[in-house]
Amino acid sequence: MEKHITLIKGDGIGPEIVNEAVKVLDRVADCFHHTFLYQEVLAGGCAIDAYGTSLTQETLDACIHSDSVLLGAVGGPKWDQVDPSIRPEKALLGIRKGMELYANLRPAKILPQLAHTSPLRKDIVDQGIDFMVVRELIGGVYFGERNTYQEDEEWVACDQMIYREHEIRRIAHIAFQTACKRNSHVISVDKANVLDSSRLWRKIVHEVAKEYPDVTLEDMLVDNSAMQIVKNPAQFDVIVTENMFGDILSDEASMITGSIGLIPSASLGESSVGMYEPIHGSAPDIAGQNIANPIGTILAAAMMLKYSFDMPNESDAIEQAVNEVLSQGYRTADIQEKGCERLSCSQMGDQIAAQIK
Ligand code: IPM
Ligand code: MG
Repeated sequence: MEKHITLIKGDGIGPEIVNEAVKVLDRVADCFHHTFLYQEVLAGGCAIDAYGTSLTQETLDACIHSDSVLLGAVGGPKWDQVDPSIRPEKALLGIRKGMELYANLRPAKILPQLAHTSPLRKDIVDQGIDFMVVRELIGGVYFGERNTYQEDEEWVACDQMIYREHEIRRIAHIAFQTACKRNSHVISVDKANVLDSSRLWRKIVHEVAKEYPDVTLEDMLVDNSAMQIVKNPAQFDVIVTENMFGDILSDEASMITGSIGLIPSASLGESSVGMYEPIHGSAPDIAGQNIANPIGTILAAAMMLKYSFDMPNESDAIEQAVNEVLSQGYRTADIQEKGCERLSCSQMGDQIAAQIK
C-alpha cells in the first residue's frame, strides 16, 4: 500500500523524536512491502520564525490532503511573548479544528517491564493499569469565545465553555465503540454538580448509552476522577470527557504509567485521516541533546497504522518491538534504572527498528 504522511516535526525535541518514528515506519514499509511518502511542513514556533504565523493555510491543506499527520511537539520559551493569536499552540488547535478531529484517544497502559517505575504503590499497580481516555478535542472552553476587557477600572478575562448536543453525541459514540472493543465499561467524567455544559453532557451520554446495551456506563465527577486515577486505576476501562478535563486527566494518567515519554495519542474525525502525536510537549530543556525518549512518538506511528491505514499487524509489530527492546533492558534517560543500558534517542530508534522483522 502507498500512503502519504505529513510530518510536522515542530519545536524543541520534536524533530529528534519524529526522525526516530520515521526510521521505524521505514522499517515497517520494508518488511511489509508498503510505501510511505513523507511531506514535511512547518507548524508551531518554527513556523512563526519562518512565516510570522504558527499555522498557514498551505500547511493545513497539506494535512487535510494527506493520508495522516505525524506530529512531534510545538512550543517553547522562545515564543512565550508572541501575540496570543499566533502562539505555537494555536497551530495544534488550528489543525485539530481545521481537520475536524474531535476524538482524541490517549491510552494509559503500564508496561510490565516498567511497572516498578510508577509513582503508585506496588499493590495498586499490581491490580493493573490499562485504560483509554477518550477526550473531546474541538469543543468546550478551548474553542469558546474569549475576551479580556476593562470594567470599573480593573481587567476582566472571560473564557466561555460551550458544548452543543451533536458534539457530545459523536464523542459518546466513539467512547462506547471503543469500550465494545475493550472491557465494555465507560466512565463519563463531568462536573454536573456545577456546570450546565456538564449537565447536558451527562444527559446526552446517557441517551447514547441506550444504543450500546452491552456496555455499562457510570458517571464520575472530575475532582473525584482525579482522585480515583491514583487511588484505584484498575476500575477504569474507558474514560470519556470534555476537552479540558481530558487534557488534565490524561497527563495524570500518563504519569502513573511511569513516564509521559511513553504515551501516544490519536486524534480522529469522521474520515480515516488522523493526526498522531506523543502526549508530551516539546521539552526545550533537553532539545538538541539526543536524549529524549522517542517511544511515545513511535507508538503514535503504530496507532496511525492501526486507526488510519488499517494495518493492524504492522501496528502490532511496532508495539512488540518496543516491548522487546524494553525487555532487553534498554532505556532512555527518563526511564533509566540500575542494571539497564542507557540509549540516546537515535539509538533507541535504531533498536526498535531493528526488532521489526
Ligand atoms: C495536549 C497539550 C495541548 C492541549 C496544548 C499544547 C495546547 O497540552 O495536547 O494535551 O492542551 O490540548
Ligand atoms: Mg495536555
